[in-house]
Amino acid sequence: MIRKSLMRGRAVLCLLALGVAVGLLCAMVVRADEASVAKGKQLVEAKKCAVCHKASSKKGKPLNEVTKDKTDEYLKGALLTPKETIDPKTKMPAYKFSDEEVKAVIDYLKSLAGGQK
Ligand code: HEC
Repeated sequence: MIRKSLMRGRAVLCLLALGVAVGLLCAMVVRADEASVAKGKQLVEAKKCAVCHKASSKKGKPLNEVTKDKTDEYLKGALLTPKETIDPKTKMPAYKFSDEEVKAVIDYLKSLAGGQK
């Protein structure tokens, strides 16, 4: 009897520990995503992408629309090798972003998608 309830207690503890671990993991993933979006925002502001990519500019579409219907692979190409990826005559400058920076910029652009900018 005592042993049974002890075991049940252990099982409950195990489940609790598992729940806490899963919760922590989720929190870490969300935080990593937020950090990436914040880094992307910094980069996009530092490079002044919005000079061309805003509603009132004729040079590029607004930043919240550039990711629409595009794959990550295409977006990476658009940032690093725009002439090969978008159009040989595009005004989009080529940027020397690291893989991490490309991901951050794309994460940020996607966070804008659908919103107002
Ligand atoms: C000198 C103007 C200019 C600047 C600065 C600029 N772009 Fe562009 N970009 C363009 C043009 C023009 C295109 C062609 C498609 C369009 O009209 O959006 C383009 C295309 C893109 C595309 C692909 C969209 C598509 O529909 O093919 C992405 C993504 C993009 N730009 C992101 C950025 C980011 C991020 C920055 C800053 C790091 C930036 N651009 C800076 C002019 C610019």
